[in-house]
Amino acid sequence: MTVRNLACVVGARPNFMKMAPLLRALEAYPHVRTTLIHTGQHYDASLSDVFFEELGMRRPDVSLEVGSGKHGAQTARILERMEATLEQGPAGGGRFDRLVVVGDVNSTLAAALAAAKLLIPVAHVEAGLRSFDRTMPEETNRIVTDAISDMLLVSEPAGVENLRREGRPDDAMHLVGNVMIDTLRHLLPVARQKDILPRLGVEPSAFGFVTLHRPSNVDDPATLSRLLSVLNECAQKLPLIFPVHPRTRSKLENFRLTTPVGKSGGLRLVEPLGYLDCLALTSQAKVIVTDSGGLQEESTALGVPCLTLRENTERPVTVDEGTSTLIGNDADKLERCLAQVLDGRYPAGRCPDLWDGRAAERIAAILAK
Ligand code: UD1
Repeated sequence: MTVRNLACVVGARPNFMKMAPLLRALEAYPHVRTTLIHTGQHYDASLSDVFFEELGMRRPDVSLEVGSGKHGAQTARILERMEATLEQGPAGGGRFDRLVVVGDVNSTLAAALAAAKLLIPVAHVEAGLRSFDRTMPEETNRIVTDAISDMLLVSEPAGVENLRREGRPDDAMHLVGNVMIDTLRHLLPVARQKDILPRLGVEPSAFGFVTLHRPSNVDDPATLSRLLSVLNECAQKLPLIFPVHPRTRSKLENFRLTTPVGKSGGLRLVEPLGYLDCLALTSQAKVIVTDSGGLQEESTALGVPCLTLRENTERPVTVDEGTSTLIGNDADKLERCLAQVLDGRYPAGRCPDLWDGRAAERIAAILAK
């Protein structure tokens, strides 16, 4: 069989758990060779290295080390360095037959653009998701990436509907399920062995898990301070563990909203967590309060109530079938839903079709054809 050279790109934290199962599934096809490229959008050990270790993913073959910056500058740096890397081709010679990108971060968009300009076909894993909210940087990334990808690998039915509405042909789309849930199912037994609950002094089902990093929630001092006071209020009833993203930490410091990392009432700010500690906590939490797209999906797969601090979602299946409720930054609604959770009245969800731990196998079969 003719060798197929795939350039596989990761850049930011949520990319790693999507790419790891795919690289593993592609190993079943000896004619497929993968080059793993890390843009370096995320570079802190706690946002990057720990994921490679815990997910059992090989070190990147190429590191672009772009670092942080404004959107334009960061995207431009990735575009320039990615173009050079793609032009150079795989280490064993020849050219790249295809680029594979995942998710909706700046690295996804910039890598896809570099490939499209070099006429290298692009496969987008997690295609078709739309929040219809152009104030989210990820929405622009999704729309542009899909527009220049010829292979659209979709995680939930809404993605197919969105792409059809945008005039994309059916033969470009494949409803394959959710690769992030592959990683969750694969590593849940390992995560359950971690001792993070006793280390944080919490009991299973007797704490909540909080994350917050969207610009719409953390960039404005009034919004962030209001959310924190609601969370502090909730934490009087249920201890809340809050691993703080570096972006959120710097805002807390700039706005002088920070209490030292550690105990402050029941709201406990801790350093960013690795994948396994995070999964150990989310899978045993009473409730998750978050603005993360990934956690909306993971909570749905785990059957844990998820109060989503966003006005909209590009992942509607997590609301329609799963355990997520959109709260926006409505403090009263958050309190009402939290009371439902604590009283055992919060409605149960179901796990969406094809979120079965085998999405990467389906994608690998399509890529290897
Ligand atoms: C990015 C993604 C977002 C994803 C999130 C997960 C985009 C537009 N956003 O947001 O979709 O949900 O990752 O974490 O791509 N920083 C560090 N160390 C790092 C990386 C960043 O301290 O290793 C700090 C820097 O101050 C940086 C800021 O975090 O400016 C924001 O990082 P950036 O990658 O631009 O966006 P995220 O907010 O992480």
